[in-house]
Formats: sequence, C-alpha cells, structure tokens
Amino acid sequence: MKIAVLPGDGIGPEIVVQAVRVLKALGLNLDLEEAPVGGAAYDVAGHPLPPATLELAKKADAILFGAVGDWKYDTLARELRPEQAILGLRKHLELFANFRPAICYPELTAASSLKPEIIGGLDILIVRELNGDIYFGQPRGIRTSELALFKGAREGFDTMHYSEPEVERIGRVAFEAARKRGKKVCSVDKANVLETSQLWREVMIRVAKDYPDVELSHMYVDNAAMQLVKAPKAFDVVVTGNLFGDILSDEAAMLTGSIGMLPSASLDKNNKGLYEPSHGSAPDIAGKGIANPLATILSAAMMLRYSLGMPAEAERIEKAVQKVLAQGLRTADIFTEGTQKVSTVQMGDAVVAALA
Ligand code: IPM
Ligand code: MG
Repeated sequence: MKIAVLPGDGIGPEIVVQAVRVLKALGLNLDLEEAPVGGAAYDVAGHPLPPATLELAKKADAILFGAVGDWKYDTLARELRPEQAILGLRKHLELFANFRPAICYPELTAASSLKPEIIGGLDILIVRELNGDIYFGQPRGIRTSELALFKGAREGFDTMHYSEPEVERIGRVAFEAARKRGKKVCSVDKANVLETSQLWREVMIRVAKDYPDVELSHMYVDNAAMQLVKAPKAFDVVVTGNLFGDILSDEAAMLTGSIGMLPSASLDKNNKGLYEPSHGSAPDIAGKGIANPLATILSAAMMLRYSLGMPAEAERIEKAVQKVLAQGLRTADIFTEGTQKVSTVQMGDAVVAALA
C-alpha cells in the first residue's frame, strides 16, 4: 500500500511526523512517500500543488495530509495561494465526500465552552459535499457592475450550483453513514432563499425513499448554526453543501472544546481518500512544539479503516489515544487544571508507547 504524505505548512510538518511514527510503530507494510504541498511547495517549486505532488497523490492508495496556509502567502495571486493545493487535490481526485466527526471525549468535557450537560457524550458526524457549490462554480470573478445603483463600480461575483447527481451521491453517502450509527440525517440548506437549496432538498427527499430505516429532517443553515450550540446532541448525521459545511464543521468541531482532536476523511466513490486533521495550519504556534498531534494520528486511523481495509489497526490507534487521555496527558489546547501538559513530541511518544 502506497501512502502519500503531504505535511504542508504551519504546524503541518510537526503533527504529520508524529502520525507517521505511529503508523510505522504498527509494523505494517506501508510505503510512505513524502512530497511538498501548499506554501511549502510554492517555496520550492513555485506552485502550491506541483505536478509531482499531484502525481504522487493520484497513484497512492491514500493521502495523509497536514495543513496548508500561512499569512506570509496572503499577498500571492489566488491561484498560487496554499489553499489552492487542498482545493485542487479534492477536485482532481474527485474527493467529494467529506466526513467530519465531532466527538466530545469524556476526559475533555471540561475543555468545551459549553456546559457539560449540553456537550457530554456528543457524537455527531458532518458529511460535507466537497467538489461543488460556490467553491468551484463558474462564472466567478471581479468585474464592473451593471446594477443601476452601483454602475461602474467593481463587484465580486461567484456562482452557487449543484446538479441532481451531485446531490444524490452525497445524499447516499450520508444515508449509508447514518445506517451505521443513529439512523438520522439532517439535511442543511437555505431553501427559503436559494434555488440551489430548493433542488438540493427535493433530491434529498427522493434519495430518502431508498432508506426507509433512516429518518430525514431538513433545517435552514442559520437555524442549524443555532441548534448546534443549543442542543448539539439532537443531531446524528448532518449532510450539507460545501460552503455551509465549511462553516458548520468548524462550529461543530469547536463545540467539543477539542478541535485539536478531530480527524477528517475526504473520500472518492471508491473510498480512496485524503485524511487530514479538522484544524488548520495554526502558523501562530508553528515550530513551538505545542501543537496537538492527536487529530492527525486519528486521521491516520481513519485512513486504515476507510481506505486500507485495516479496521483492527485503526482501533489499536484509537485505543492508544484513549489510553493517553486517560493517563492525563494533554497538549496545551486541551489542558485543564489537574492534567499534565506535554509537548507535540511527548504526545507522539505516549501514543507509540500505548500501542504496545
Ligand atoms: C477546510 C478549509 C478549506 C476549505 C480551506 C483551507 C480552503 O477551511 O478544509 O475546511 O474552505 O474547505
Ligand atoms: Mg474550513
């Protein structure tokens, strides 16, 4: 099995190296090959997703990804910005199904900004469509306005669209996932305003007919943002488009108080996938040795389960992570009074030791 390892920017390299250690400690026959991506790739190859990196990602069985982005690239043209690397990988590899679990670990309930009774035991899954929507819609650009009131002024514009098959395929992914857990799907849209959402909702209702054992509900995105803070445990699987999913998944992740703990998977129709932590590149703490490597380590576990067909090994990693939490070890982001603060490397050490 070939794994493309793409550490990227900011804390990406520090956390990916810990996940790689954990994978190696499992003693599996994995061929790990590293390539630059994001700003790091721009620095060495003049492009955030150089052809050699894309080639490696295409031929690999799975991709372990760190994070991309740093303020120092903010002045680059859009097509050269680090973010284009992850968007390009998602698009070129047709990774349309993004799984973002938001789980509140019992040991970390106190790290949430919400009351323990609201958040304790939270286990929801956001299924975000990743290949369509306003992220990729054409036309887009900056032009001269034709609006009577603002004629001649510059205006930015983007296009939101979803075709029926695109909605159907992400809908099926969400229903299949719900079948294996709480058997509820909440489809989030803005059907009171947007045609794109009106069609989205129609398709979801149609797809639901093939899953009579799963309960489908609908929610407008503004209300969903509110319900996520009010009563997050009422959700099971949330399925939504690319833009709404971007926003709601950050909200859901932070609810748990442990965004540094949450992995994610982005899959194509054959379950080939890219695995990355739900958090970003955090350039403000890069190089300080304080980043939490657990989200990336858990992403490696997701990779073993979904793309490599090794559920037992995935579970070994997950158990090891639970063990270090139970031991009271915490990186700075999840530290609370009475626990023991450790560095990125010490956390990696502890997980490797707990595998034994
Ligand atoms: C995410 C990120 C990306 C997105 C950025 C880095 C382009 O925020 O994975 O959620 O908007 O999808
Ligand atoms: Mg995001």
